[in-house]
Amino acid sequence: MEKFNNVSILLLCILTLQICNGGELRKQFYRTSCPQAEQIVQNVTWKRVANNPVLPAKFLRMHFHDCFVRGCDGSVLIDSTTNNTAEKDAIPNRSLSGFDVIDEIKTQLENTCPGIVSCADIIALATRDSISFQFNGSMWEVLTGRRDGNISSASEALANIPSPFANFTNLRQSFANKSLTVKDLVVLSGAHTIGVGHCNLFSNRLYNFTGKGDSDPSLNTTYATTLRSQCRSLSDNTTTVEMDPGSSLTFDNHYFSSLKQEKVDELTSSSSKFFTEFSQSMKRMGAIDVLTGNAGEIRKKCSVVN
Ligand code: HEM
Ligand SMILES: *[C@@H]1O[C@H](CO)[C@@H](O)[C@H](O)[C@H]1NC(C)=O
Ligand SMILES: *[C@@H]1O[C@H](CO)[C@@H](O)[C@H](O)[C@H]1NC(C)=O
Ligand SMILES: *[C@@H]1O[C@H](CO)[C@@H](O)[C@H](O)[C@H]1NC(C)=O
Ligand SMILES: *[C@@H]1O[C@H](CO)[C@@H](O)[C@H](O)[C@H]1NC(C)=O
Ligand SMILES: *[C@@H]1O[C@H](CO)[C@@H](O)[C@H](O)[C@H]1NC(C)=O
Ligand SMILES: *[C@@H]1O[C@H](CO)[C@@H](O)[C@H](O)[C@H]1NC(C)=O
Ligand SMILES: *[C@@H]1O[C@H](CO)[C@@H](O)[C@H](O)[C@H]1NC(C)=O
Ligand SMILES: *[C@@H]1O[C@H](CO)[C@@H](O)[C@H](O)[C@H]1NC(C)=O
Ligand SMILES: *[C@@H]1O[C@H](CO)[C@@H](O)[C@H](O)[C@H]1NC(C)=O
Ligand SMILES: *[C@@H]1O[C@H](CO)[C@@H](O)[C@H](O)[C@H]1NC(C)=O
Repeated sequence: MEKFNNVSILLLCILTLQICNGGELRKQFYRTSCPQAEQIVQNVTWKRVANNPVLPAKFLRMHFHDCFVRGCDGSVLIDSTTNNTAEKDAIPNRSLSGFDVIDEIKTQLENTCPGIVSCADIIALATRDSISFQFNGSMWEVLTGRRDGNISSASEALANIPSPFANFTNLRQSFANKSLTVKDLVVLSGAHTIGVGHCNLFSNRLYNFTGKGDSDPSLNTTYATTLRSQCRSLSDNTTTVEMDPGSSLTFDNHYFSSLKQEKVDELTSSSSKFFTEFSQSMKRMGAIDVLTGNAGEIRKKCSVVN
């Protein structure tokens, strides 16, 4: 019997090699080590989102930036030191915020179960919970078991976060670099249904598209006029505009209605289709190059390595 059990376990381990190695994320990773973990994250997140409706956008973008630089390892949370300029201080960090909420969650978790829950998992869970609160429904499933990295570099953020000026070829390349498909690219871009963008990141398309004081002819002229009234000059780096005009606080598929492309027809016509696809792509984004098992560490404080 004993022997049989060992053989079964061995077989199971061969079949599910990844899990036995601790090499994979799973549901309710903290079920026994910190049973209240997910509830604590949800409670703090909901409390904070109730008072700050822009938080879901902040978290969604933070999660994306975390995952695209060294995998989802919480490296986006690390502060710069005298010797190191961290991801936070890279140019694409513009408009990242919500770090104080992560810290509040971490403090409560450390009080309840010290050294157990990673900062990387906190970002993934808080992102989902913030949008679930706003949407008033459960969104996607978040697998857990990520561990924290101890390297955060501004230059790596620049190299891996796609530029706002990137063309489709660049974007496809940057997603392929993370084993994400063109479909993931299209679907995850739907994240821009919430949140805002700074004028200077696109105002060349309003004021100087080809260097002749012109605007991008592919922009709807009514929309371009509206944008010009909000973004007053090429160099305006303080004004922000809603990325999904009229519904920037609502997580919906409206964003795609603004993009007239064959590729997104299906996503435009059905919001449940969009949510399903978005959930699947988020799961894949949340698994990019994760540290699991004995790799990495569980940071004590999310902004500094142990
Ligand atoms: C496909 C490549 C992407 C590019 C080039 C891109 C670019 C940008 C830019 C330029 C902004 C405006 C930042 C600012 O001016 O403050 C922005 C905002 C945002 N991005 Fe993306 N993004 C991309 C993909 C994603 C993905 C995959 C997600 C999440 C799944 C995401 C979530 C967000 C959110 C939620 C905001 C709003 C942030 C806020 O309101 O503060 N983006 N993105
Ligand atoms: C979460 O919040 C609910 C409602 O406020 C409360 O009853 C519960 O005890 C909280 N749970 C944790 C783990 O903080
Ligand atoms: C920065 O580097 C110097 C010299 O290499 C070293 O003495 C110091 O401990 C480092 N500081 C930190 C915060 O890593
Ligand atoms: C972003 O980087 C700039 C320096 O490039 C820094 O002044 C700013 O505080 C950073 N923002 C965040 C949210 O860390
Ligand atoms: C959110 O959902 C709950 C239960 O599903 C419902 O009782 C409540 O009225 C909803 N709130 C809003 C604002 O839709
Ligand atoms: C996309 O941009 C790159 C430079 O970043 C350029 O080499 C390439 O030709 C562009 N591709 C298209 C299709 O415009
Ligand atoms: C691909 O990833 C590597 C590092 O992981 C980075 O140096 C490179 O710039 C990335 N390329 C693109 C197009 O994102
Ligand atoms: C528009 O672009 C051209 C070519 O890049 C540049 O010479 C000119 O200074 C730009 N105009 C403004 C107002 O920045
Ligand atoms: C441009 O946008 C306006 C306002 O949203 C809309 O009424 C109009 O149909 C659009 N024009 C085209 C050509 O799509
Ligand atoms: C905005 O532009 C001004 C003037 O060009 C510059 O001094 C400032 O640092 C910029 N701010 C940001 C956040 O990039
Ligand atoms: C970073 O973590 C690795 C283990 O993942 C460890 O070997 C290394 O010493 C750590 N480096 C620093 C600077 O803490």
